[in-house]
Amino acid sequence: MIIKIKKKYIGAIDQGTTSTRFLLFNKEGKLTVGHQIEHKQIYPRPGYVEHNPEEILENTYKVIKFTIKNYHINPSEIAAIGITNQRETTIVWDRKTGKPYLNAIVWQDLRTSKICEELSKKGGKYKYQKIIGLPVATYFSAPKLRWIFDNYKELYKKAKNGDLLFGTIDTFIIWNLTGGPESGVHITDVTNASRTMLMNLKTLKWDKDMLNVFNIPEKILPEIKPSIEPESFGLTLRDGPFNEKIPIMSDLGDQQAALFGQTCFEKGSAKNTYGTGCFLLLNTGENPVFSKNGLITTVGYKIGKGNAIYALEGSVAIAGSLIQWVRDKLNLISSAKEINDLAEKVNDNGGLYFVPAFSGLFAPYWRSDARGIIAGITHYATKEHLARAVLEATAFQTKEIFDAMEKDSKIKLKILKVDGGMTASEILMQFQADILNVPVLKPKIAETTALGTALGAGLACSFYKDLNELKQKWILDKKWLPKMNNNKRNFYFLNWKKAVQRSLNWI
Ligand SMILES: Nc1ncnc2c1ncn2[C@@H]1O[C@H](COP(=O)(O)OP(=O)(O)OP(=O)(O)O)[C@@H](O)[C@H]1O
Ligand SMILES: [Mg+2]
Repeated sequence: MIIKIKKKYIGAIDQGTTSTRFLLFNKEGKLTVGHQIEHKQIYPRPGYVEHNPEEILENTYKVIKFTIKNYHINPSEIAAIGITNQRETTIVWDRKTGKPYLNAIVWQDLRTSKICEELSKKGGKYKYQKIIGLPVATYFSAPKLRWIFDNYKELYKKAKNGDLLFGTIDTFIIWNLTGGPESGVHITDVTNASRTMLMNLKTLKWDKDMLNVFNIPEKILPEIKPSIEPESFGLTLRDGPFNEKIPIMSDLGDQQAALFGQTCFEKGSAKNTYGTGCFLLLNTGENPVFSKNGLITTVGYKIGKGNAIYALEGSVAIAGSLIQWVRDKLNLISSAKEINDLAEKVNDNGGLYFVPAFSGLFAPYWRSDARGIIAGITHYATKEHLARAVLEATAFQTKEIFDAMEKDSKIKLKILKVDGGMTASEILMQFQADILNVPVLKPKIAETTALGTALGAGLACSFYKDLNELKQKWILDKKWLPKMNNNKRNFYFLNWKKAVQRSLNWI
């Protein structure tokens, strides 16, 4: 007799820049249980940022196994799983052994600035914008891959022989979960592929011209799939971390997952996620909008055979990681939360502006020659003012992309939906509402990234019915209203802009 087990959960693997989570969501779209482990940030020299792909894979397996064992989950109760991941981070590995050849080169890494400079010499950094939606920048995967081949000729040979595979983190994890060297499925989704500089935004295929620009053999690239796939990407192995065959049905870059998790399904809806970096995405519907103000065009999501939904994105490299820097490198605080205790003791920034251009500046400047500065220091300034400036830096950077977004889209944004770890900061959220002059709204489920891919996988396997049902799962937790007068707002923002100018042309 076959006993049919009731499906109770959708699993979400959220492989972020700083940590890996596995979370289970139920029929109501509520987070039930899960587990999270941080991984090592490797900084071999200034500007270099790496992760160990084997550590990340191990942590992925650990969080899955821990959740299942510790909370007594029957893996057969998991209807499907979705994955979401830090984007652009680049891995190359051996097709036959599955072993990565090098550490992953992380999105924040600046080692490709020379390659990017060379590329934009003729025609400027926006020369490929109409094909890929992106400026030439160190941020994206293809320059990283080119750097690997320039510096490891033997790997280029392997690539041409078909012994080497390339992938962003989603691809690497899915390949391993579905059987690695024996039966691994080598795929990615349109959102992740749209961050490589190799995918044509309109055809959603690898672009031959871009492959030539970077001299990359197509056979090392994964197949591009929809983000949400009713036909499933593949099954996990029975002798893998789940001990069960479970279909993998959603694959979304973390920021696109957050857009989906915030149920920004309508053209004109936007969200801002405050994690390691900070990423504002606006749904622009079925047509890509090409920015004139330093934003990038990206795929928001694609459901099965449906049309792709595009987004405009403002990417800020350093947000929450500035607080981590204050914690780990300045030792001014012992946990992220304490930045608020310090900042609370003063009413303003005391004239301090902190431009955290640690990885150069991303949107809307795209300047890899910028470096971090603290401007406006006098004898009056205290560590409490510095704490305030650290929090405000994220709000100012958001304001810059918010303004660019309104200009590009010609849409007046009336509210901002927010999520991510830094939304725990009352001071930041209030200041954000003040400096933008719009209400800031936070939903009950803070794990929006994981939720997004869980909703996607649940939709794909009919665990959830339709987008309408998903929309009902968005419930307001907290709202911050603007209280600042115009003069003050303008004064602060003008000073911020001045400080940004001082950070440029450093390298
Ligand atoms: N109470 C707090 N106040 C301000 N910032 C905070 C607070 N708690 C956490 N943070 C910041 O939030 C960030 C973590 O946010 P979140 O958990 O959303 O990121 P993440 O998803 O782990 O990032 P990634 O996916 O990039 O690894 C950290 O950089 C931390 O500095
Ligand atoms: Mg995250």
